[in-house]
Amino acid sequence: MDSLLIAARAVHFAATISVAGVFAFLCFVIRAEAPVPLARRLRWLAVASLALAALSGAAWLVLLSARISGEGFTAALTRGAAATVLLHTRFGTVWSLRAGLAAALAVLLALPARWRGKGWRWVGLALGAALLGLLGWAGHGGATPGRPGELHLAGDIVHLLAAGAWVGALVPLALALAETGEAEPGGGAAGTGQIRALVWRFSVLAAVSVGFLLAGGIVNTWFLAGTVPALIGTLYGRLLLAKITLFVAMVAFGSVNLLRMSPRLAPAAARDAGPLRAALGHLRRNALVEAVLAALVIGLVATLGILPPGLHSEPGWPLPFRIELALLSPPAVAVLALAAALAATFAVAAAASAAAGHYRRAAIAGSGLALCALVAALVLRPAAQPAYPTSFYAPAEPYAAASVAHGARLYAENCALCHGRDGKGDGPAAASLPRRPADLTAPHLFAHTPGDLFWWVSHGKGGVMPGFAPVMNPADRWDVINFIRARAAGILSRTLGAQVTRAIAPRVPDFAFETGHTQHTLDRLLSHGPVLVVLFTGPPPPARLAQLQALRARFATAGPALLILDLDPGGAAPEAAGMARVEPRAAAILPLFRSPADGGETDLLLDRAGEVRARWTAASAGGPVAASALTVATEQIRELPPAAESHAGHVH
Ligand code: HEC
Repeated sequence: MDSLLIAARAVHFAATISVAGVFAFLCFVIRAEAPVPLARRLRWLAVASLALAALSGAAWLVLLSARISGEGFTAALTRGAAATVLLHTRFGTVWSLRAGLAAALAVLLALPARWRGKGWRWVGLALGAALLGLLGWAGHGGATPGRPGELHLAGDIVHLLAAGAWVGALVPLALALAETGEAEPGGGAAGTGQIRALVWRFSVLAAVSVGFLLAGGIVNTWFLAGTVPALIGTLYGRLLLAKITLFVAMVAFGSVNLLRMSPRLAPAAARDAGPLRAALGHLRRNALVEAVLAALVIGLVATLGILPPGLHSEPGWPLPFRIELALLSPPAVAVLALAAALAATFAVAAAASAAAGHYRRAAIAGSGLALCALVAALVLRPAAQPAYPTSFYAPAEPYAAASVAHGARLYAENCALCHGRDGKGDGPAAASLPRRPADLTAPHLFAHTPGDLFWWVSHGKGGVMPGFAPVMNPADRWDVINFIRARAAGILSRTLGAQVTRAIAPRVPDFAFETGHTQHTLDRLLSHGPVLVVLFTGPPPPARLAQLQALRARFATAGPALLILDLDPGGAAPEAAGMARVEPRAAAILPLFRSPADGGETDLLLDRAGEVRARWTAASAGGPVAASALTVATEQIRELPPAAESHAGHVH
């Protein structure tokens, strides 16, 4: 079923692009009325493409309806699923509109030449472009919500229209070149002048379109793949890379046409019929090769459209290493950026020289490119980290109190024997092991991605630690990882003080709490801005509570929200004093972010990402948090560079 849908989509894309392309060719390349035999062929091309577009569009609708309704192909037709999709979905609305446009185009093409107005080609172009551009609403772009969705959709539409102008005009170009080859065997001067102008105008159209294709493609890739792991680790990303490779090959053939073949049509060269005809034949063949490559690209596009985009599936990392750019020093990053810029310049120069037939120059530029690659590899070496197929998995269990609390129990049962109850690597079995178990509380833990940890917990490490995949299901493994990360985060947070940290900041797991009778979560509170979490281990002194109330009032309009909690399981939080009641699981894990030496109160200032940026305690020199310190810290948080939003880590 899916392969039929892919086929219908591919044919429909190709046919629609061809319709728009014929009119783009008439308007931008031929510009005048085409000579009669060519006009007749182009018209047939447009009619055939339009008919194919109508048939494949109908097939697409029916197959999609069958897929959505889960019924068979015939049921989709007879039980009205197709009608439902047509009448009640956005896809259906777009399809109805496009059916109207196709009908208008059919009428335009059926009109005898003498009835068509002068501007008929432009009318056809407008209708064809609308028919093509509306396809953007049937893709992923139409499904991205909000403002980014508008950008994504705009990117898609630009991409489609540019494809129509360039790819769609390739077959008309080949037809025009064949026509000239037949009509002018002797190569009349006027004929070659015309064909030269025609090839030139096509090249301009193609170059402009390639620019727009690139722009739209980059926007699209950002939205759908977004990260390197998603690009090389998912089926979606790999097909996208294949598409980009084919695109580069198409541009290469186009450049050969522009830089090497069209000069051979120059008047001096054209006096001789033989070379001229050879050059025309070459041009035509290259145009057809480009069209075939384009057909392959369209097949990939048709497949990509029904796959979940790369960002929405787990990237299986194929390489034994990954690059951690954060490990590079600023000068190294500068060198890398320079090498990348130089490499891009060399690459363009090498490609252009090769296309124009200047092989020596191409070789020199190629050597420059290789040199840049060598420098980049040397600079990147220290940033290479071992990686595993799961390195870029996003945790399947959210980093939240329930998961961490469950993970703590699993840890005690499975890991404490070697790693120790507190994770220091000093469990009862540690001494008898040939390798010392790792200290899981060191900040070093954060040098590994959650996916790295998942790999080790699943498959073991160093020949000493066993893999737990046979005895723990994946959710349990993620729970235990969330726990060891939360514990290491808590220990790391104890090193912080009133000065806002810019280094990697430990994140507090999400948890639920209650004020009055309303349920809230930390994450929802954080979505409004920074939060000051105040932890007490028993009923807070009334005087301190009054201070905190004053603090809350003072920061009510701008500044962090205050979340005041009593972690004592028996403690009854006095709600009247603005305290919240915390869920028991959270009361059990939040002490990870305290130390017994803190005294009765620990204050954690969290940035919007839930990371602890500053910390005060009842026992610290300046005492617990006060208004002046909080003002300074809030200001410093505001000046932090926005947290690099992990694209791949987002959870739905
Ligand atoms: C039989 C003893 C043993 C048990 C049980 C064990 N580990 Fe380990 N673990 C080790 C040893 C030894 C190493 C160090 C391996 C090395 O140096 O390559 C290690 C390394 C690790 C590392 C790598 C840390 C780093 O920074 O390199 C993680 C994470 C880890 N263990 C987590 C766990 C978890 C979670 C459990 C329980 C589900 C567990 N281990 C159970 C012995 C054990």
